Amino acid sequence: MNHDQAFWLPYTANRAFWKSPRVIKAARGHYYTADDGQQLLDAFSGLWTSGLGHCHPAIVSAVQEQVATLDYSMGFQVTNDRAIALAREVADLAPAGLDRVFFTNSGSESADTALKIALAYHRARGEGQRTRLIGRERGYHGVNFGGMSVGGIPGNRKVFSAVMLPGVDHIRHTYSHADMAFSRGQPTWGCDLAEDLERVVALHDASNIAALIVEPVSGSTGILVPPIGYLQRLREICDKHGILLIFDEVITAFGRVGAPFAAARFGVTPDIITTAKGLTNGVVPMGAVIVREEIYQALMQGPDNAVELFHGYTYSGHPLAAAAGLAAMKVYREEDSFARALALEPVFEEAIHALKGEPHVIDIRNFGLMGGIELAPRPGAPGARGYEVFLKCFEAGVVIRNGGDILQFSPFLDSTPDELTRIFETVRDALRAVA
Ligand SMILES: Cc1ncc(COP(=O)(O)O)c(C=O)c1O
Repeated sequence: MNHDQAFWLPYTANRAFWKSPRVIKAARGHYYTADDGQQLLDAFSGLWTSGLGHCHPAIVSAVQEQVATLDYSMGFQVTNDRAIALAREVADLAPAGLDRVFFTNSGSESADTALKIALAYHRARGEGQRTRLIGRERGYHGVNFGGMSVGGIPGNRKVFSAVMLPGVDHIRHTYSHADMAFSRGQPTWGCDLAEDLERVVALHDASNIAALIVEPVSGSTGILVPPIGYLQRLREICDKHGILLIFDEVITAFGRVGAPFAAARFGVTPDIITTAKGLTNGVVPMGAVIVREEIYQALMQGPDNAVELFHGYTYSGHPLAAAAGLAAMKVYREEDSFARALALEPVFEEAIHALKGEPHVIDIRNFGLMGGIELAPRPGAPGARGYEVFLKCFEAGVVIRNGGDILQFSPFLDSTPDELTRIFETVRDALRAVA
């Protein structure tokens, strides 16, 4: 075999990739530099990760300084000053009452950690029979066994169907093409879809259910925006039945929806929030699970010297990641990033919806600085058209993402209107060029 091709890329068409590799060697601000020198405008902020732009000088220097000061310290029974400081800042930013922060290294680990905390919480309160977990169709909570099981994207589940966690149900997804195509922002139709949670509760009895996990705005499945009132209704039903509500904010936290968290934007406070990506602006891998104080307190049982939760990662609270996170939090504050993103939202909305009527476009959805353009699949070749549009945009110097036939956009929090125009004009040309 060709050892230059030893790298098995994640979520990638590897055989096609190696015929024509796309390799980035540098980045600054809103642009990548490819290995052949091509400048590429990044319309996806990394992979939803880098809302502040690439190689932000404040984050780069914080990480450089940290690596020369403390590279790593033991993470069990000992920690480092950066992790303590970042936990405090994240808790301060989180909705009131969510005061405890458990660090992970990714969104997938955050999802599994949140599910385990939910189970441990109920058991600690003497309701150990509450073990059932509820996800939602089309949800994405990463690729580990817990997140995969509560996730609802068929392609992620198919091959592993036999080894899903037991005791998992899914409520209906929130999309109806007939009722909400080309909605701008939150659809007005569909609040009642939340009642599907009552169906699952009636089936199993609330006394057996630990938690519901949803993305406030579904990202990877292609930007499904919650109908007005839907999340509020989920909160009410969870409260009524003692079910913990987990918001997976791996994408939506840290400015992506024009607020520190989608919870704040929608005015719905979950019991647990999972994050990753924007926590460090993608500079060093890190995730965080932010937990309601009562949940933490319920677990603080037994002798003082006993470990309360048998869970953790070698790199939980890694000092380099924490230094990147602290610097990112400072930049979010200093650049007023969340408000800037909110102010940019109407410009983004106009720019993306201007593609209505272009070839193959059957829906356009947006919320915050998250956008999706759904294409009609080519008969007999689902996903091919989306992939070809992605390739054409790349050749034209703009990096977008396609999830099958849904084009996805996640511009920088400080994008300029001109950049947005360029992104969508490039997509327009690509749509006109593909069969
Ligand atoms: C909502 C959500 N949860 C979890 C994940 C998984 O994160 P990671 O790839 O860091 O494991 C993602 C990744 O896109 C995500 O969008």
